Amino acid sequence: MKKYITERRSVRNFDENHRLSETKILEFLDVASRAPSSMNLQPWNFVVANTPETKAKMKEAMRGNFLQFDTASAIILVLNDKLAYTNAEEIYASAFKLGLMPSEVVERQSMFAKTLENADPNNYKASNFYDIGLFSMNLLTLAKANGLDTSVMRGYDAGKMLEIVEMDPKRYEIVSIIAIGLAKEDGFPTYRVPAAKKTKFLK
Ligand SMILES: Cc1cc2nc3c(=O)[nH]c(=O)nc-3n(C[C@H](O)[C@H](O)[C@H](O)COP(=O)(O)O)c2cc1C
Repeated sequence: MKKYITERRSVRNFDENHRLSETKILEFLDVASRAPSSMNLQPWNFVVANTPETKAKMKEAMRGNFLQFDTASAIILVLNDKLAYTNAEEIYASAFKLGLMPSEVVERQSMFAKTLENADPNNYKASNFYDIGLFSMNLLTLAKANGLDTSVMRGYDAGKMLEIVEMDPKRYEIVSIIAIGLAKEDGFPTYRVPAAKKTKFLK
């Protein structure tokens, strides 16, 4: 694990002939979705372009990052579902059916989920973005462990992008775009501030 985490770098030039099938991409997304999330509400949603034709549609909303965009095997739009709490019942009912959650916990969790409707929007958004960050890091590490590379991108016209991919902006917002593919050129090394400089141990 340490190897995959430390060897991952943002790759900005991929082998444009490398393809990723829907099945493989769904497998990656399913595995990465094992990430923890607040109340297990899994607020992530995705729009994927994995052909030159579908990527070309999305490109109109990009404001840079063209090399990684053009050469990646797949572009994954990672979306926050602003109404993720409305999925609570379905999630908990599925867990119940699978024998993973007793009925009293289903009830309790469903009640908590309902309160999110009136939650402070900033707190709720921060919580969802935190969950989606955990998901995203899983995806990056998983890709690395499968011989692939990634880069996270911001720098797009969010409104235009949602319009192009026909996702309702009232419900969804873009958290980031993840390019995934087979590296043609290594990512460059970057510096990290030592944890010791950022950490206080209580004595
Ligand atoms: C939310 C987010 C947005 C980013 N946006 C871009 C981007 O638009 N273009 C780009 O080239 N790199 C982008 N990066 C990559 C960072 O520059 C990179 O992760 C950082 O410099 C550390 O390098 P490494 O990923 O190779 O370890 C982004 C990373 C994150 C997490």
